[in-house]
Amino acid sequence: MTRRETPADASDLARAVAVLRRGGLVAFPTETVYGLGADARSPAAVARIFAAKGRPPDHPLIVHLGTASQLAQWARDIPPAAHRLAEAFWPGPMTLVLPRAHDVPVAVTGGLDTVGLRVPDHPLALALLEAFGDGIAAPSANRYGRVSPTVAAHVREELGATVDLLLDGGACTLGLESTIVDVTTAGVRILRPGAVTAQAIQHVLAQPVVTGAPQDVRAPGRKPSHYAPRARVVLASRMTAVAEVTRWQDGGRRVGLLASAPPPALPAGAVWLDFGGTVHAQARVLYQRLRDADHVGIDVLVVVMPAANGLGDAVRDRLVRAAGLGDGIADGAGDARRDASGRPGDGPPD
Ligand code: TXA
Ligand code: MG
Repeated sequence: MTRRETPADASDLARAVAVLRRGGLVAFPTETVYGLGADARSPAAVARIFAAKGRPPDHPLIVHLGTASQLAQWARDIPPAAHRLAEAFWPGPMTLVLPRAHDVPVAVTGGLDTVGLRVPDHPLALALLEAFGDGIAAPSANRYGRVSPTVAAHVREELGATVDLLLDGGACTLGLESTIVDVTTAGVRILRPGAVTAQAIQHVLAQPVVTGAPQDVRAPGRKPSHYAPRARVVLASRMTAVAEVTRWQDGGRRVGLLASAPPPALPAGAVWLDFGGTVHAQARVLYQRLRDADHVGIDVLVVVMPAANGLGDAVRDRLVRAAGLGDGIADGAGDARRDASGRPGDGPPD
């Protein structure tokens, strides 16, 4: 892998296109998180993404496009709502799930008859897509189930030599993955909340939207446990945070508190991590702070949740999954973090 500490330039773009054309992997920045890209038309190249991430092959990838005018090359039966959303939010942090065009490789869609499509809003990503001229399949550039990367160094740390070229575009401005909107059914459904909010989508379509994935959707970002650091994540409110920190310190655990301000009486030995003062700042720093918690050896990270509206919904969604509690349903990954009573295993005594 090419190690760069400087922003990518035109010669890097040319090399990135060459890597993609020969079936290699290019990690690149978007406004949400860094993606791990491959030629979406090449099943062999796409297979390398799954191998690098350790991702099960039946989980679909998002295909990134340079412009909405390429939609018809990748999707069929595109409803008017999809065109309206593309016009309103692309380039931007929104993925549309649509019926796939017949020649879209099933390797990309995890065997589904639908495909996720997005035009990202980042100058380097757009320059890469334009130079490549076709779709780039790209999941977040992290190992399966782990925290998404928001700076190039995260990709380097986590995927190292399995990436052929890493384009460094600095820190991602939004820091949370795109909103996924399913427009394949009569209604419009948000499968994953993001910076394009349900309210904004409702406003554009002048119709209600449903939120939450149906139970049978095979979407790794929808698994109850995802975006997980090594530290156990415990969800709290401003009112309960200090009591949770104290409770979890029992037994000598190293406990961190992720909150916008240090509480007046942080228990001795606990570490405060700065969560930022606005929900936008929280979205931007969340994944960095989860990584920080691991770097400083925190066993349990107590997090003060933002309010549940707009972007706050997206931050909360990632935190619930980082805590292994998504949808309140324990699957394989969630089970490992709970005891038989459904409460977190290895917890403090009551
Ligand atoms: O912001 C983002 O979306 C980033 C950047 C790199 O674009 N990408 C990203 O990709 O988060 P990934 O693979 O980590 O998450 C994509 C999500 C997964 O939960 C996947 O299952 C879902 O999109 N997805 C993709 N195609 C789908 C489809 N046809 N139906 C339902 N869900 C789909
Ligand atoms: Mg991901």
